[in-house]
Amino acid sequence: MAEKRRVLLTGGTGYIGSHSAVSFVEAGYDVALLDNFSNSSPRVLDRLEQILGQRLKVYEVDVCDEPRLREALASFSPQAVVHFAGLKAVGESVKEPQRYYENNVAGTLSLLRAMAAEKVQDLVFSSSATVYGDPASVPITEAFPRSATNPYGRSKLMVEDMLMDLCVSDPGWNIALLRYFNPVGAHNSGLIGEDPTGIPNNLMPFVTQVAVGRRAKLSVFGGDYPTHDGTGVRDYIHVTDLAEGHVSALASLDRTPDGAPLVVNLGTGKGYSVLETLRAFEKASGCSVPFEIAPRRPGDVAECYADPSRARDLIGWEAKLGLDRMCEDAWRWQANNPDGYTS
Ligand code: WQD
Repeated sequence: MAEKRRVLLTGGTGYIGSHSAVSFVEAGYDVALLDNFSNSSPRVLDRLEQILGQRLKVYEVDVCDEPRLREALASFSPQAVVHFAGLKAVGESVKEPQRYYENNVAGTLSLLRAMAAEKVQDLVFSSSATVYGDPASVPITEAFPRSATNPYGRSKLMVEDMLMDLCVSDPGWNIALLRYFNPVGAHNSGLIGEDPTGIPNNLMPFVTQVAVGRRAKLSVFGGDYPTHDGTGVRDYIHVTDLAEGHVSALASLDRTPDGAPLVVNLGTGKGYSVLETLRAFEKASGCSVPFEIAPRRPGDVAECYADPSRARDLIGWEAKLGLDRMCEDAWRWQANNPDGYTS
């Protein structure tokens, strides 16, 4: 029997990482995880075992620890790395920019040095639609100009530029930059899902925490945007669709034009407003979610949704799951785990 291709997921016990672990195993890969558990629970490993029927190998390593990274790469000897590990809270990044550059930029440099030393040059990088800043129009294509309005977004933009330069310097690197829109939802088992620490920054986990009784009501940040109902419009994508996008991207790394990175939006191409999303959630969960219209959140844009055609044409991927399924799966996870992984 042919040996399975091995892939190492940094940040593999996080929200996107754990869902991607399921998709890679189901696609026939031998998967190992690398995480420092600074923003995730080791309980994810038990839940993944329940879903997959196998215990995944995990290396408890910080991506800034180059020697330990090298040891993990030498031990597992993956053909590829998917790099999820990083800090991702916009507001927090404004307060603690150094921690964000240390983790997201220096951590990636440390990973690249370790990969080069161990002769691993296939890499999928977790980027974000935040690199588009405040887009001049929608839908957004990969050719849109990039800009950053906060240290988190700047760290993603800097890493993208680093990886583009690396590909020019050494065509031996095969790299994909995946620009996520708004990941929501959970694996349909209800065993793994989004479990933010403290008060959720993002809409969906806040909504599910109101529905499960952990929070009193949702503040809708802004009711006066130039959108059809005045509230912010975003491209919500089911985390399982997002995970599948990583499998498709890894399988297409050799299709990068003239060795440049494969740059792809991972979105559905549909935008939903906050109020539309709220109504879809109430319908899917049967819960009512009290809310109030509050002032706009600094840094928010009115509308942001993808033109997903390049993903379809270049890596043969497109999102399959709609907003109703995102809400159903998000609710199943939260209802089964009112306090996340600690419960
Ligand atoms: C969505 C909509 C809010 C919370 C951010 C990052 C992005 C990516 C995804 C990492 C907006 C509104 C939200 C709330 C609300 N993260 N909202 N009340 O801001 O589009 O993107 O998360 O990669 O990089 O920028 O996502 O879920 O925070 O907000 O009204 O309590 O919900 O104003 O319109 P966002 P979000």
